[in-house]
Formats: sequence, C-alpha cells, structure tokens
Amino acid sequence: MLQERITQIKEEGEKALQAVKTTAELEVWEVKYLGRKSELNDILKGLKDLTPEEKRVVGPLGNAAKQALFTAFEKAQGTLLEKSSDFEKERIDVTAPGVPAPVGHTHPITIVENEIQDIFTSLGFAVADGPEVENEHYNFDALNFPKDHPARDMQDTFWLASLNPPAGGEGGFEENKKSKEKYLPRTHTSNVQVRYMETHTPPFRIIIPGRTFRNEATDATHEHTFHQFECLMVGVADEVSVATFKYVAETFFEQFFGKQVNVRLRPGFFPFTEPSFEFDISCSICDGKGCPTCKQSGWIELGGAGMVNQRVFEAAGYPRGKYQGFAWGFGMTRLAMMKYKISDIRLLMSGDLRFIRQF
Ligand code: DAH
Repeated sequence: MLQERITQIKEEGEKALQAVKTTAELEVWEVKYLGRKSELNDILKGLKDLTPEEKRVVGPLGNAAKQALFTAFEKAQGTLLEKSSDFEKERIDVTAPGVPAPVGHTHPITIVENEIQDIFTSLGFAVADGPEVENEHYNFDALNFPKDHPARDMQDTFWLASLNPPAGGEGGFEENKKSKEKYLPRTHTSNVQVRYMETHTPPFRIIIPGRTFRNEATDATHEHTFHQFECLMVGVADEVSVATFKYVAETFFEQFFGKQVNVRLRPGFFPFTEPSFEFDISCSICDGKGCPTCKQSGWIELGGAGMVNQRVFEAAGYPRGKYQGFAWGFGMTRLAMMKYKISDIRLLMSGDLRFIRQF
C-alpha cells in the first residue's frame, strides 16, 4: 500500500514539475512535495510506527523518492533562473572606452600655500601649525597687546560663546568676554609664535600658514575669513638681524613671482615687534600704475614685520636679551590675488565652481 503511494507521489510530483513555468509556481510545488507538511514527509515521519520488515522496505523507497524529487526540483530551479537572467544586458564590453571621472581642482590659495612652503623649505624653514580657535592669551596677551588695545574689540575680533559657561551662565559672547578663559577664532597666525617657542629652543626658522578670521566689513580687498602666513626666525644674540629679514624677504618674492618685485618698508607699530615695519609690494595687477585692487596707489599692503619684541620671548619663557629674531605676517590671500590677477577677494571663498575650475 504505502510503497505504491510513494511511487505515485514521485510520479505525480515529476509530472507536475514539468508544468511549472514560474518561480512562484515552483515555490507552491516545493511546499506540496518537499515541504514539512507534504504527504511524503508525513509518510517518512510515520516510519517509526511500522514493523521492522515494513520499515526495511518503505524507508529506503521513501528516501529515494524524496531525493529524486529534490534533484528534479534543483534542476527546475536552475532552468528557471537561467531563463529569467538577461545575460545580454549584463555583458561587459571590456573594449568600450571609459567614462572620464570628474577631476577636482586645487584652490588657488592651496596652490600658493604649497608654493610658499616649497620656497621656504628650500631655505631651511620648517612648517608649523596651530589651532584656529584660540584663547586670548596666545592671540593677544602673550604677544604684548595692551589690555585695552582696540584690536581686541568687537570691531575686529569674533568673540566666541563661552566653551565652558560659568554655572547658571548663558554661555553667550558677553559671558565669554567676562570669563577668565576667552576664546576666539584667531585673528592672525601670530598666535602660533609663542606656542611654538614654548616647546622649541632657538635657533629655529619656521613658517606658519593658516586661516584667520576678522569681523570686517567685506569689500573687494577685505574678507572675514582669509589666509595668512607667518614667518619666524630666531637665533642667539645678533645672529638674526633686519638684514637677514631683508635677504629672506627679497629671496622669497623673487622666487614667488619669478621676477623682480618692488618692496616698500614703512615704519609701523606692532606690539610684538620692535622695531616694526609695514610691508608693501608693487601691485602685480596693474604693475604699479593704479587699479581698483590697489585703490589706485600702485602698492598692495601685504602685512607687517619686525624684530621680535623681548617681551614676547619672555612670554615664551626665554630669558630676556638672550635671543634675537624677526617675525613676518602676510596675507596669503593677497599673494594669491596678485599671482592670479584676481580683482575681488570675495571670489576666493564664494564656493563658485566656475571660479575654481579655472585653476
Ligand atoms: N599679525 C599681524 C596682522 O595680522 C601681522 C604681523 C605683523 C605679523 C608683524 C608679524 C609681524 O609676525 O612681525 O596684522
């Protein structure tokens, strides 16, 4: 009886499989003939209730039928899969020309920064780095800015909301101005001078390129975010003098512009240098004839320089009078504008790809 039924199920299943055309139909078939609740499975589960003689015959027959149906099922599954795949669509033509990937552009500021680094490293300078969010000490106090210096005022400095507001405080910038540790986005790269000197002993020569921030009304030559680079060379006693500074400055400009550039030094004042100079170079956009970028003067003000004030050395923990050095701070943004004849500083931070793609 059971033997016959098993043979029947097997034949029925094999026949039914031939009519299966889709994967959905195949699933239904699988449940019916191979599933946990299939008739064949029930028979195999019932083997334990049979006599030993019956078991000996029905067992192998049932298992063989199950195996045969399973093999047929797998074969049908393979055939269906093959039919449903579109091999033509998936074929890869390895001889087809590639699609060019869009290539990015180096920002003119980055190009100029790299050039400056190349020139200065060839002169034996190291490149140093410091934080963009600074405390009042390194940005102003350690550089000998008097407590009431106007540069600390809201006109020039973006004071930050206090990072650690006192208990119950709001953490607004008024709180920050009152609290002991005041924070600001650095107004110049000079903030790294004392930081570097605290961990290094002269002689050394470094440059510090970086981003700086000021609360400025923006126009063609002023931006709230711009790039500077700082140069600091310190030696024992009079190893480093104004003449060293002049030599380094002239060498740098000659290499950077690839031509002779006129440099103008004017007496200036910076709390962290003594004596101090203001530094101009001839406008490369109009070659000194006068244009809107140089405000018709023929000169571009680049920044300042001077011999490091002994009070700055003292702030760094150096003994007074032991060392002498020069410091230099430039608008890297201005250099980029001159190099590429960019007449409006606001283009640089505009994020306009039509501008960036030209470099
Ligand atoms: N930190 C000054 C500024 O941003 C520029 C400057 C002047 C830097 C004189 C110096 C220096 O190192 O000696 O306006």
